[in-house]
Amino acid sequence: MQRQLSLNVLVRPEERRRTLSHDARHGLSRTHKQIPPTWFYDETGSRLFDEITRLPEYYPTLAEQTILAERVADIAAATEADTLAEIGSGTSEKTRLLLDAMAKAGTLRRLILFDISQEVLVGAAEALGRRYDVEVHAVVGDFRRHLSSIPQGGRQLWAFLGGTIGNLVPNERVRLLSTFREQLGPGDHLLVGTDLVKDADRLVAAYDDAAGVTAAFNRNVLTVINRELHATFDPHLFDHRAIWNAERSWVEMRLRSRVAHTVTIGDLALEVPFAEGEEILTEISAKFTPHQIADDLASANLLTCATWQDNGGDFQLTLAGPQPSAASSPDL
Ligand code: SAH
Ligand code: TRP
Repeated sequence: MQRQLSLNVLVRPEERRRTLSHDARHGLSRTHKQIPPTWFYDETGSRLFDEITRLPEYYPTLAEQTILAERVADIAAATEADTLAEIGSGTSEKTRLLLDAMAKAGTLRRLILFDISQEVLVGAAEALGRRYDVEVHAVVGDFRRHLSSIPQGGRQLWAFLGGTIGNLVPNERVRLLSTFREQLGPGDHLLVGTDLVKDADRLVAAYDDAAGVTAAFNRNVLTVINRELHATFDPHLFDHRAIWNAERSWVEMRLRSRVAHTVTIGDLALEVPFAEGEEILTEISAKFTPHQIADDLASANLLTCATWQDNGGDFQLTLAGPQPSAASSPDL
């Protein structure tokens, strides 16, 4: 049965181009070049990411899925949520576990999926709409800007899974969590998945797999810029690198130019020179301690309700709720 499915597109092609132009111009004109990770996920990128989640080296997906499988009944009972809103939902594979538990508890009414990648989002929204007796809202948006467009009402559980929170630098991370906090009413909850600090070899292997899928995923961002901004990147002139930065507690994904050369970004009338060995930082993936997670949540006025880890202690799910604060208006 397919109930109504609403689609709200907040990132229209013109706006997407404008934001990408801004990010590319600023990121590639700096001394330390960088591109924000949001642009990995076109159709090819989303397919490659899906492949990453199934790689033997990439443990986070399976670890998070294992925790969910064990704890979804507790989560459904603790939150009594009737609305599940997933941010950066991708294929929403693991989300099925949460939906099963909410359906079993008899509370499930509504599902909101929010992602920047329209193709994958719509596919997931249709599949879940067929499988569950829920109202489905698909929102194509940038979680850095459009979270206030998430439909309000009901008793909400927001899920931010896959360790995506770790792809933001600390100040962006707290800013995003604060935006979550502003959108949550009393009795609503947030479920966040975070990867934990561990052995550097395992961390690096998870971002530099033997089959080269992560390398292809990383290089794909150059193809996105070529297509959308008429640039002349040759992805094969760049090597994929994954580096553990112990001081900052994050893995850095970089693209390293093999030779000195210049890339033209046609639509920006920008020439981008690369020295031999010069790198673009394309992504960070922060690895947390339980203490750091609670700290970041607290900085955003979110109170930890429960935490769960897999047996190996690789990954953590944290359930949090809004901390009543003088600054937030009571939801009467
Ligand atoms: N939640 C899924 C997917 C994680 S990959 C999982 O756990 O496996 C990160 C997802 O976030 C992708 O689907 C990507 O399209 C989305 N994403 C990345 N940056 C985004 C942004 N700025 N706004 C909205 N979605 C974003
Ligand atoms: N949120 C995922 C993570 O940090 C995203 C990711 C996995 C990723 N592998 C990647 C991002 C490789 C860039 C490159 O684990």
